Amino acid sequence: MERTFIMLKPDAVQRGLAGEMIVRFEKKGFKLVGMKLIQVDRTLAEEHYAEHRGKGFFEPTVAYIMSSPVVALVWEGKNVVALARELMGATNPANANPGSIRGMYAMDISRNVIHGSDSVTSAEREIALYFKPEELVDYRKASDEWLSE
Ligand code: PPS
Repeated sequence: MERTFIMLKPDAVQRGLAGEMIVRFEKKGFKLVGMKLIQVDRTLAEEHYAEHRGKGFFEPTVAYIMSSPVVALVWEGKNVVALARELMGATNPANANPGSIRGMYAMDISRNVIHGSDSVTSAEREIALYFKPEELVDYRKASDEWLSE
């Protein structure tokens, strides 16, 4: 089973969108295996966006992610990395499908309400950045057998 890391960014929490966004993943069928509300510090923010260091948007993006609490989530399921990217929509909300999370709740790339891992490798790195192994819960969900063969 695949796992992905999702962050509901400061604007999502401040705008009271966290619950609605979590519901989208729950209703799709993903299994929630980790969740916490945290204040991201500079060390963590810079590590998260390390591949973008040196780009013009690096510092504003780090500042944005540190500006207010975020909800860190780990979801599990078949093909969840790619499916979560579909649910979120394009990184730039201006290009996001209107039915996607960014298409529904965001207007500008600088406040795009949600982050999701872009590959299984990124997911493993990001999950390890935000969660200790013991903070992830392994359990059986009654709906599992109704989601795929
Ligand atoms: S890129 O264009 O390939 O470097 O972008 P990507 O790897 O998809 O993600 C870049 C993250 O930085 C955030 N961000 C911006 N990206 C591009 N341009 C601008 N102006 C910009 N401002 C902020 C963008 O939202 C990506 O963060 P996440 O958390 O994945 O949304």
